[in-house]
Amino acid sequence: MKILVINGPNLNMLGKRNKTVYGDKTLTAINNLLKKEGESLGVNIATFQSNCEGKLIDYIQKNFADADGIIINPGALTHYGLSLRDALSDTGLPIIEVHLSNIYSREEWRAKSVISPISKGRIVGLGWRGYISGLRILVGELRKET
Ligand code: DQA
Repeated sequence: MKILVINGPNLNMLGKRNKTVYGDKTLTAINNLLKKEGESLGVNIATFQSNCEGKLIDYIQKNFADADGIIINPGALTHYGLSLRDALSDTGLPIIEVHLSNIYSREEWRAKSVISPISKGRIVGLGWRGYISGLRILVGELRKET
């Protein structure tokens, strides 16, 4: 089983960026935790981050064929990234949307997600643990664990 873990704009700055909102772990640290969790679940984890919507789309188009699911934090593209949404939808794969912060308790414009309607589910406001929980839930669903 292979899961793509994708992060959008500005998430390369985790660990430096607004730590009270996003926590102090770097994206590398989070990805390493995901890879460790993947090993214990027997799942292959492929990670990718870009600040460019087109590069995220290129990555998805190139890599979805042999993947079983996608975990994505689209960053601010969550709120307006319609091309990214189409690319995710076109894969036909189950998508888990993750946000480190609680997008409902912040500025009003953050409460709208164009990704949610094509997502299987989303985890919001639980920091880096949201990615790990998302991975466990996605793998459990794919394996049809009860
Ligand atoms: C975010 C929330 C977005 O509104 C913001 O633009 C981000 C990060 C989060 O993880 O909480 O870049 O997706």
